[in-house]
Amino acid sequence: MTSRRTRSSTPAATAPEGGLPARAASALKPLDRHDRDLFALRLARSREDLFGPLARLYGHRPDYAAFADDLVGVIAEGWAARPEALRRLDLARDLEPDWFLRETMVGYVFYIDRFAGTIPGVVDRLDYLEELGVTYVHFMPCLKPRPGDSDGGYSVMDYRQVDPRYGSMDDLERAAAALRARGMSLCVDLVLNHTAKEHDWALKARAGDPVYQAYYRMFDDRTLPDAYEATLTEVFPAHAPGNFTWYPDLGKWVWTTFNEHQWDLNWENPRVFLEIVDVMLFLANRGVEVLRLDAVAFLWKRMGTRCQNEPEVHDILQALRAACRIAAPAVIHKAEAIVSPRDLVPYLGAGVHAGREGNLAYHNSLMVQFWSALAARDTRAMAYVLRTHFPTHFRNATWATYLRCHDDVGWAVTDEDAAALGLSGPAHRAFLADFYEGVFPGSFARGALFQSNPGTGDKRSSGTTASFCGLETAVAEDDRPGIDTAIHRILMGHALIAAFGGIPLIYMGDEIGLLNDRTYLDDPDKAHDSRWMHRPAMDWAIAARRTDAGTVEGRLHDGIATIMRARKAAPHLHADSPTEILDPGVDGVFAFRRASPLGALIGLFNFTESWRAVPAAFAAASGATDFVDRLTGAVVVPSDGMIPLPPYARIWLT
Ligand code: GLC
Repeated sequence: MTSRRTRSSTPAATAPEGGLPARAASALKPLDRHDRDLFALRLARSREDLFGPLARLYGHRPDYAAFADDLVGVIAEGWAARPEALRRLDLARDLEPDWFLRETMVGYVFYIDRFAGTIPGVVDRLDYLEELGVTYVHFMPCLKPRPGDSDGGYSVMDYRQVDPRYGSMDDLERAAAALRARGMSLCVDLVLNHTAKEHDWALKARAGDPVYQAYYRMFDDRTLPDAYEATLTEVFPAHAPGNFTWYPDLGKWVWTTFNEHQWDLNWENPRVFLEIVDVMLFLANRGVEVLRLDAVAFLWKRMGTRCQNEPEVHDILQALRAACRIAAPAVIHKAEAIVSPRDLVPYLGAGVHAGREGNLAYHNSLMVQFWSALAARDTRAMAYVLRTHFPTHFRNATWATYLRCHDDVGWAVTDEDAAALGLSGPAHRAFLADFYEGVFPGSFARGALFQSNPGTGDKRSSGTTASFCGLETAVAEDDRPGIDTAIHRILMGHALIAAFGGIPLIYMGDEIGLLNDRTYLDDPDKAHDSRWMHRPAMDWAIAARRTDAGTVEGRLHDGIATIMRARKAAPHLHADSPTEILDPGVDGVFAFRRASPLGALIGLFNFTESWRAVPAAFAAASGATDFVDRLTGAVVVPSDGMIPLPPYARIWLT
């Protein structure tokens, strides 16, 4: 619906030297010379990154020059309001721009109430995070959600307030400072695709204000919605079918991709861009260091497409990034785009956006392929997909690697990739859904379906890492060897995400093997959404057993803490070291090389419950020299020229 235009990207109003628009000049006036200079230099550094994409998005509009002036004003106001401690952090980060790429980074993710009740409660638990070596702490959605069902907090009614059940914005600011003092960065969700229908903008729109109606996508009749629906898919087909909702009082259809209460923002309106920059800098100035930009694939709509991953999305994301880099350069952006491999890579910056877009993105493919290989005891698809579709590294960006998160697992194995390995896409996807539901004969996993769509045959899966790995089944059957095996699967997975490249994210409770939680079924606001099954509350009584080496919790916690310590001691794992997928030629073994200036680190992972062996000559040819396993510190001694790999073995060979 919108054509892409090119045009001189730097509007007159932002010309250098005395050319600052009035709003920006007045915001900067109270600052001292040094801080004004810093602003000018950082604006100059990022001007093209900012206005290049914005000119493509909005340059054709008659109000573009005024918008550009306002934007520089909003950014200047953000900088003027930036607290002293954060300006210092900005300088530190300018001096070490690779801070988030380092092997020392380890992430931990939780819902505040489920981890520690409140934000001050989290601050009291920081020793626990330190034990795991955590440097990056993701508070799952914590901004004020709508009352009742809020899609786990992703239906936000006020971006400038914290969920009152968790505390206040002051608490958040204090928590950010407490984290920072321990070398931990706070990550917070910023939902870009939609607001709650109770957000102030939506309320004004609903009351008939045309200025705010233009913040959303509204239609008087079904003509356009029907035309869009012809190519759209459904995100929540089971509980929120369709992409539009009719409001009789408003007399309009509203675009609601996710739930009815989540109204899609209209990013074709530059005022939406301005508002979000303002919110972004507000959060940055509270001490947030990582903004997790939610559901970014959906930001731009184009008739005749799925309205996902459109090129304009990348212009928006680059421009948001540039705005932040001017006023809050300590802050990085993480894109949440759970899309196919081809569409995923650009979120870390491709082509004109290379080095200028997201700093982090979830490695959804690695996650899906891990579970697929674990169920099939076959790593060929994993190796094929990761080798074929992904670059070995990025510029100024890297992955967030993870085994599980708060969302379902969608079995994103494409028909083409399956066919390349002689598999049927639909049959393999159905196998995975059955396997992780626990209904496939012989499956070790326990889980539940999420949003099965009889129309498309699509089935997604819910379950915790431990339950997916077989711990729940083994515990229920008091099967000791089964428990051992499940522990090895969990540790193998964490050793994989800790070495693959990027920041490994531990999902709260995985370090002590928390199982599926079925209590969500008793809560009417949650019962329709099986994702709550794998969002259990922290059980601190169970966690207390982590120091007892004889318990499951003790083995898992120690195992994961050891993996993270080994990661921090292996500079080979800096995210700038390319990740090259290897072919050891052994069934069920996945291998990659991290090529670093210090030499190679070879990761070997046995995805089966039987012994495997990899030729020592293969490891040597791949660059292993001293044959030290960096996970254990032990020298690996080949036998008959082979490196033995016990069931679910993981080795980081240098
Ligand atoms: C993201 C979140 C998911 C949420 C959706 C809509 O995908 O991870 O939990 O339902 O966005 O905000």
